[in-house]
Amino acid sequence: MVTVKLVEGFTMPSEQTSQNQQQPFEQQPVCFVGAGPGDPELITLKGRRLLDSADVIVYAGSLVNPELLRGVDAEIHNSASMDLDTIIEIMANAYSQNRNVVRLHTGDPSLYGAIREQIKRLEAMGIPCLVVPGVSSAMAAAASLKAELTVPEVTQTVIFTRRAGRTPVPERESLDRLAAAQASMCIFLSVSSIEKVSQELISGGYAPDTPAAVIEKASWPEERVITGTLETISQKVQQAGIRKTAMILVGKALGDGPDTESRLYHSTFSHEFRKQEK
Ligand SMILES: C[S@@+](CC[C@H](N)C(=O)[O-])C[C@H]1O[C@@H](n2cnc3c(N)ncnc32)[C@H](O)[C@@H]1O
Repeated sequence: MVTVKLVEGFTMPSEQTSQNQQQPFEQQPVCFVGAGPGDPELITLKGRRLLDSADVIVYAGSLVNPELLRGVDAEIHNSASMDLDTIIEIMANAYSQNRNVVRLHTGDPSLYGAIREQIKRLEAMGIPCLVVPGVSSAMAAAASLKAELTVPEVTQTVIFTRRAGRTPVPERESLDRLAAAQASMCIFLSVSSIEKVSQELISGGYAPDTPAAVIEKASWPEERVITGTLETISQKVQQAGIRKTAMILVGKALGDGPDTESRLYHSTFSHEFRKQEK
């Protein structure tokens, strides 16, 4: 087993049931931290603190903004060219030397982050893990459009998905099947096949004039936003030469109409925090 030390102010999962009992010599788990979509200010305070106190950081170099690592006094590894065995070996070795390990993933680690296999392997070695959520690029893309993805009476559902590429997608989740719900969609990892995305969504039931947008490098200084409809978006994106690091957002919620308003703030709507006088 590995010996452990405590990072000041860190809460071990075991402490969560007994907050008053400090365990001063316990080591922090390997922390999987969401880096956010790019803007270095879009990491959580907890994620920032863990980065600043890390001894070893393994970051997903293809998408994480290196600005996040500027001035950090740690041994830093870019995982872009590594296989899973190598990533695990670096993290497990560092942990066994009582060093604080952070695995930095883009956006939110739970979405297309391949964290499950890493956590499984580490936990099988007796190494505890912890996940700190992050701002997904899907949310950053919606913010760039100033969009609400859940507009009353338009849709109350958001689908996070991707088109099948080298990673297959179960047939029951193909875009044309998901289109039947007419929900808001955030489509990852698929901008290089935007034409097929549009075709499949239309053949699945979205009207050709359904609003669609592509946000490249959302929240980065070089962010680009292309808006259109399912009929027009593909050509616009191809003309702009966008091939990667882009989010596709689709759905009627991105449009102007209808002028429905949330009941939550309606003057006649009574709820726990605002009772209406009868
Ligand atoms: C491997 S997935 C990781 C997603 C990440 N976990 C998240 O929550 O954003 C990579 C895909 O996320 C999307 N993506 C990541 N960062 C982005 C950004 N800043 N702007 C737009 N899309 C982004 C792109 O679709 C890209 O192909």
